[in-house]
Amino acid sequence: MDGDLITMNDLSNEEILSLLDDAERLLPVAHGAEYLPLLQGRLLANMFFEPSTRTRMSFETAMKRLGGDVVNLGDVNTSSAVKGETLYDTMRMVDGYCDMAALRHPRQGAAQYAADACSIPIMNGGDGAGHHPTQTLLDLFTIRQAHGRLEGLKVALVGDLRYGRTVHSLSHALARFDCELLFISPAQLAMPDEIVDDLTGQGAKISMTEDLIGAIPDVDVVYMTRIQKERFPDEDEYAKVAGIYRLCAADLAGVKGDMIIMHPLPRVEEIHPDVDSTRHARYFEQAFNGVVTRMALMCRLLGVSVPGGEV
Ligand code: NCD
Repeated sequence: MDGDLITMNDLSNEEILSLLDDAERLLPVAHGAEYLPLLQGRLLANMFFEPSTRTRMSFETAMKRLGGDVVNLGDVNTSSAVKGETLYDTMRMVDGYCDMAALRHPRQGAAQYAADACSIPIMNGGDGAGHHPTQTLLDLFTIRQAHGRLEGLKVALVGDLRYGRTVHSLSHALARFDCELLFISPAQLAMPDEIVDDLTGQGAKISMTEDLIGAIPDVDVVYMTRIQKERFPDEDEYAKVAGIYRLCAADLAGVKGDMIIMHPLPRVEEIHPDVDSTRHARYFEQAFNGVVTRMALMCRLLGVSVPGGEV
């Protein structure tokens, strides 16, 4: 890792696995059972130019549990962005204020742009329909926690594969761990061709279908996603696909006993609340795992080693 996390290409498989190991060691700290002020005196800038609940709050929780502190951009409508300040100028300023920054922005490529403007580490918390690598770290952590490994699993990615940045980053990482990928979406929300070409070029095993219920008995992970309403160029196009997949407990009769259901959240109507109490539901644990994985990442980027890990 060269100091920023913009896409999963910034991490080797070995680095991913060692971050997940560090994250595991930090579980008692995230639970509040231990206090470990590894990042005392360090400041994180939370720069969220788009709505966020989990990503922003878990970065903040992670930093504070490790004894560090956080400066928030706050509501973008009360920031100087509304006066016309450029992202470049805002980030140049933050570069001086803080030790690292998490950035979420509606424009694809914004995180790389910010990283080029700054000398502090930049963590991409989602750039438009581009990438969301810190989400991928917590997704991988959750998968490994449930299945004991990443390699060779069969994973269904479901819903908005076109605009969903979580599945763009996750599919790259899973392919590198030799997972078999099943893309489930309507044709208009299919995984972009350039990503499919890239994955197949890497030798990934990929299949595609529109049929969720028919496909899930065979898989180890079902990763549901929200249709990204805000990215559609027009409302009518969204209306055609809204609510297309709705998983409920009755659909799970024939699935593998250890199959897990994940979702980056927020869910709209993709997963009925009656799934929450099944043994397959993992999305709330998944959201919690955002704290430990972001702790591990911030320590790594600031050159702080997590006790118990390799130096
Ligand atoms: C996702 C995002 O922002 O891309 N949310 C998240 O970070 N957990 C998914 C979404 O908004 O649908």
